Amino acid sequence: MVARVETEDDIAHMRAAGQLAAGVLEMIGEHVTVGATTEELNALCHDYIVNSIDCVPAPLNYSNGPGQVPFPKSICTSVNHVVCHGIPSPKKALKSGDILNIDVTVIKNGFHGDTSKMFCVGKPSVLADRLVRITQECLYRGIQAVRAGATLGDIGYAIQSHAEAHHFSVVREFCGHGIGRVFHDEPQVVHYGRPNSGMRLEEGMTFTIEPMINAGKRHVKMLPDRWTVVTKDHKLSAQWEHTIMVTASGADVLTQRAEESF
Ligand code: MF3
Ligand code: CO
Ligand code: CO
Repeated sequence: MVARVETEDDIAHMRAAGQLAAGVLEMIGEHVTVGATTEELNALCHDYIVNSIDCVPAPLNYSNGPGQVPFPKSICTSVNHVVCHGIPSPKKALKSGDILNIDVTVIKNGFHGDTSKMFCVGKPSVLADRLVRITQECLYRGIQAVRAGATLGDIGYAIQSHAEAHHFSVVREFCGHGIGRVFHDEPQVVHYGRPNSGMRLEEGMTFTIEPMINAGKRHVKMLPDRWTVVTKDHKLSAQWEHTIMVTASGADVLTQRAEESF
């Protein structure tokens, strides 16, 4: 079933979950420093999510299906050539020049808010800085393509055309997703496509847009831990994510941060 809000109450709950998730990213920013480990960032987020905002961290023990390994931490931390689903570790200390995605999903009153952003540690290279910026623009262009009556293909096209115009590539194996009471619901929101193709968007649909954009080729591989996804060519990858709700005239960005305006 496609995720959608049915009542004003659902909308209020989705907005609340989205804003709480956004607040975690706002809280953690000042802790992303040279020498910090990704496990320290996980511990800070876990404590904040559980004790300060009284939410459940959706990734903790999350599993994609029967027989899958449960995710062992409360956030995903994906550094440099890690595309997504990086597992926080006390062995992973951040160095100057690293780029890091922190992906936060919280559950409040049964509703999910899912959002991620890139952080630059110390001084990023010119390439890293450009990849991070263009990937954020890809997310924003995808969001701008949303309105009732548009299609999923319009979103994918907006993202893919911008990434490829800058000689970057779009990861195909992972996509955005319907979200609500269920973490990963229908529809699949792929980050490539053709205008006026695929599912037509309707008012009240709730889904994420979360483009993963690579500096090199699009191909990825899974590490033996069964979660960490890396670029095959070990070049940099970046990702930004928002949870949105489709409206008659556009998108309501439920996970908007104070630094953003739509
Ligand atoms: N937050 C990720 C997403 O955007 C999913 C993480 S699942 C986990 O869909 F188990 F790896 F945490
Ligand atoms: Co998501
Ligand atoms: Co996410």
